[in-house]
Amino acid sequence: KRGSMPMRRPHSNLNVICLKLSEGWTAMKNEFVWGVSSSAFQIEGATSEGGRGLSTWDVYTRTPGKILNGDTADIACDHYHRYREDVKLMAELGVTGYRFSIAWPRIVPDGVGAPNPAGIAFYSDLIDTLLEYGIQPYPTLYHWDLPVINQFVADGWLSRQTAEAFARYAGICFEAFGDRVRHWITLNESWCSAVIGYGLGAFPPGRRDSEQPYLAAHNLLLAHAMAARTFREGGFDGQIGIANNCDWREPLTGAEADRQAAERALQFFYGWFTDPLVFGEYPEMMREKLGCRLPEFTSDERKFVAGSVDFLGLNHYTTLYASAEPPAVGCDIGPNGNGGMIADQDVFLSVDPAWVQTDMVWSIVPWGLRKMLNWVGERYPGIPVYVTENGCSCPEPDVESALNDTMRQEYLKAYTASCLAARDEDGVDVRGYFCWTLLDNFEWTSGYARHFGLVRCTPSDLTRIRKGGFRTYRDIIAAN
Ligand code: NOJ
Repeated sequence: KRGSMPMRRPHSNLNVICLKLSEGWTAMKNEFVWGVSSSAFQIEGATSEGGRGLSTWDVYTRTPGKILNGDTADIACDHYHRYREDVKLMAELGVTGYRFSIAWPRIVPDGVGAPNPAGIAFYSDLIDTLLEYGIQPYPTLYHWDLPVINQFVADGWLSRQTAEAFARYAGICFEAFGDRVRHWITLNESWCSAVIGYGLGAFPPGRRDSEQPYLAAHNLLLAHAMAARTFREGGFDGQIGIANNCDWREPLTGAEADRQAAERALQFFYGWFTDPLVFGEYPEMMREKLGCRLPEFTSDERKFVAGSVDFLGLNHYTTLYASAEPPAVGCDIGPNGNGGMIADQDVFLSVDPAWVQTDMVWSIVPWGLRKMLNWVGERYPGIPVYVTENGCSCPEPDVESALNDTMRQEYLKAYTASCLAARDEDGVDVRGYFCWTLLDNFEWTSGYARHFGLVRCTPSDLTRIRKGGFRTYRDIIAAN
């Protein structure tokens, strides 16, 4: 649809790519997408190559004491140099979709200025390679690697300027890759950006505040909506959505107070970052509890914020019980769990001690995914949903344990079955499932001490070793 695309590199095999794209697009309309998910900062490495600018995570990883074992993402999986090998692994798995993120500091190194041709060339080649293998690209535009200038000059997500800079950067990506991308995801897990970054102080910029998360969230939502407006007004082909995270909250008892507590917890989690994009307003339970502490959209903003998603992504990993009072039995994970600022919710969270936990201390509760998908389907009818992340980190002391990989194999079988049950038995419009993740990678503050990959690799041994879970996921996909 677009006329001139000055930043796009010429293709050597344009015809092949166009053919693959149209074949893929036709197939995609009818088929459930099986995919893998990743993010730029966690796998690319090459942090000072190709004209890439600094991100807040580069600075954070260099701050002593912030990351386990002092790990940095400078090498990570070296995907920047090995992406062809990694795409081949995906093809061997049989995935039809790949969700990756584009690093804002590779495309606009200083966040606001001139685009970087080398950064554009990298993602352009990645997208072409995917299409050559019949894999549809699902790029995420922001997976937490904020260019430092937006943090230090504009005060990050506390400023509307950052939302505006994001929309501009998004427009550059639409122009550069929009001829080959049909599904765009604006932001990844904005709950983490707002709550962990501005409330709990455990992600950059490391703030511990009870009000800033609401303002950061507000600007993140505006950033999504401004980018979606740029996308739609630009006449680009395809769809635009967002990947929001949410764990399921199961009422601890049948009491109405616990049912309300669970509902409140869900509205304060998924609803917070989704209701405005569908209805133009924050969830009713948030408005009730927070009153004027919650920022408001102006009536002009509401016009482009409401209805700004074509599809919803759900990143889902675990389940917790929710109750209005501290649980009498079972293991209470602390008042309001997941950090103090969630105190606003007025909910107690707990786990069943019988649940098996992964090494993130996240319980394996496959039925939680099905219930979560039903909640999303009922609250936002008519909007297709993708499971944009689901997976587990397993203890992996050596190569042998990676080859066996029993926990991941069971996890994947059970969670994909739960996802398909939501679609086939409950009628939720689930369009795809993306496993987190292809490669063991830089797991944020846990550094390289976590193993979410279907494939083993470490910065000191970049050899890709297929784990047991790789075989299992390949078989699940083959059985479709
Ligand atoms: C969600 C995040 O999007 C991803 O970056 C992270 O690695 C996984 N969850 C696992 O914690």
